[in-house]
Amino acid sequence: MAEAVATTNTQEWYYPSEEIVKNAYIPDYDAVYKKAQQDPEAFWAEQAEKLHWFRKWDKVLDSSNAPFYKWFVGGKTNIAYNALDRHVKTAHKNKLALIWEGENGDQHTYSYYRLTQEVNKFANVLKSMGVQKGDRVTIYMGRVPELVIAMLACAKIGAVHSVVYGGFSEQSLADRIEDAQSRVLVTQDGAWLRGQIVELKKIADAAVRRSPVVEHVVVFKRTGHAVEMEPDRDYWWHDLMALPIASTKCEAEVMDAEDPLFILYTSGTTGKPKGILHTHGGYQVYTSTTLQWVFDLKEEDRWWCAADPGWITGHSYIVYAPLILGVTSFMYEGAPTHPYPNRWWKLVEYYGITVMYTAPTAIRGLMRFGAAWPNRHDLSSLRLLGSVGEPINPEAWKWYYEVIGKGRCPIMDTWWQTETGGFMITPLPVTPLKPGSATKPFPGIEVDVVDEDGHPVPPGQDGLLVIKKPWPGMLRTVYGDPERYKNQYWSKFPGMYLAGDSARKDEDGYIWVIGRVDDVIKVSGYRLGTAEVESGLVSHPAVAEAAAIGLPDELKGNIIYAYCLLRQGYEGSPQLEEQLKDHVRHEIGPIAVPAKIEFVKQLPKTRSGKIMRRVLKARALGQPEGDISTLEE
Ligand code: WTA
Repeated sequence: MAEAVATTNTQEWYYPSEEIVKNAYIPDYDAVYKKAQQDPEAFWAEQAEKLHWFRKWDKVLDSSNAPFYKWFVGGKTNIAYNALDRHVKTAHKNKLALIWEGENGDQHTYSYYRLTQEVNKFANVLKSMGVQKGDRVTIYMGRVPELVIAMLACAKIGAVHSVVYGGFSEQSLADRIEDAQSRVLVTQDGAWLRGQIVELKKIADAAVRRSPVVEHVVVFKRTGHAVEMEPDRDYWWHDLMALPIASTKCEAEVMDAEDPLFILYTSGTTGKPKGILHTHGGYQVYTSTTLQWVFDLKEEDRWWCAADPGWITGHSYIVYAPLILGVTSFMYEGAPTHPYPNRWWKLVEYYGITVMYTAPTAIRGLMRFGAAWPNRHDLSSLRLLGSVGEPINPEAWKWYYEVIGKGRCPIMDTWWQTETGGFMITPLPVTPLKPGSATKPFPGIEVDVVDEDGHPVPPGQDGLLVIKKPWPGMLRTVYGDPERYKNQYWSKFPGMYLAGDSARKDEDGYIWVIGRVDDVIKVSGYRLGTAEVESGLVSHPAVAEAAAIGLPDELKGNIIYAYCLLRQGYEGSPQLEEQLKDHVRHEIGPIAVPAKIEFVKQLPKTRSGKIMRRVLKARALGQPEGDISTLEE
């Protein structure tokens, strides 16, 4: 069922300026698309050749064991070498790789040279803890440069990082540590958010108690407030980095193109999060090509991806792709409204940001405060804007375009997923835009909108979004669960990747993504499974059964609405509702807290006992319940 609020006015066009067209990296989308379509392997090989390979691949794509596709087979590389070492060999070492501002106004900058040295030092620290190629390291941090350093250090020595978003709480963190079997956890004392401390170390301690596989905890000091340090388990980042073992020399491990780079857990349709696995070779080619073409990044740019590095957007477009391209990336620690709602616009002006990439929910949140806040700042450095995470409603699109971009900056509405590694359906700067549509597939990508039988639907009709060919940035498997990978993505329509979204194509071939069709809810752009929220609720002693659904919300895109059936001896009350919300906050994290919990005597179920969330949703929205022939009641 459609979740979000995209209206499809397919007639309204926005065209790029001559300036944009003149500077475009890819001036003719149709020609490049066609070329890529005619020979995708040659196309991807051409992009891969722009990077460093210790040994060139023998074969671009191996489909012999589909859907376990392999890319750049036989190639030897290392993504961290392409992101750092390669640049340090030239004058590029003096260029700023990362500019960071803390919520409290702290500023740090890293040249490519310095970043490389820090990464090498931390890589040596990890090695001294016995971390080897293929070992998993869990990283649970806020938005600080040390998070980037820790990720790259893992990549450099061939360890597999698993970054857990700092907004998750103890059970979620414990589950992810357990699934990855990480012996090392990297965290920080606390993170700053809205002037408050998020107690990351305390949550990490609780998670480690539930997941005793962890042997070493590295703690970066950010807030400086008192935290408990367990002897022989916990070490301060700065102490380790001061040891002689933390040398600035570290050779990049020679990795097979298909060796794992990271696991990133994301919500699926069961309570158990899915560890999406990406590899060194294909991912580096895909993320760097997409970033360069979609945002036209050049030497002089200052790029700001305002996402969290703990999500795929941050992995691909704060950390890896910008560094591979050698651009200057900006990163901000805190909330957009701290201390006032002009913080972001102040940062754009102060740092001269040229390209900015954020989520519709953030735009809607800032739009609420009115145009006076951005209007106080000189935003003329901006040249392109971007959006990701959910459909952008035309109202927010226009505000972003007019008030932030002053009608000069095309908006790149990029559709993609944790699983896809990088942008899949997206405009290029030269693409004529329609507010609310992610427009067309990136060159080399073939998408379609199909019905339940896998047949393409006519223009204007809703259907399921599928991808019809493998691409280098695709996930390789679900960590530890290849069957789930096959079933979830490749079994409904053989040979086609099922995205889990509904969409429609218009007469011009533009794609309008509508929203998730599975039990995944997008809340403020964050991806959550109904099953995760439900298992959080059911872990409270008062709750016998729970059902969670997403309902449309003007600000957050969707909010979570939960129904609870209580155990005998418990009565529903506003106090219990608050207790349950607290419980979910504590177990899973603030993003999973339902906006409303309703106590019910019964949940609509199929005869086989499956909760019919569809029925709950229809009732909550006052809509017809659809086919309820399987309903038990
Ligand atoms: C949704 C985020 C409409 C979609 C990169 C997808 C979007 C899910 C867009 C993946 C967009 C992402 N327009 N919907 N431009 N971008 N989505 O894994 O439902 O956190 O399936 O990756 O976000 O969320 P994920």
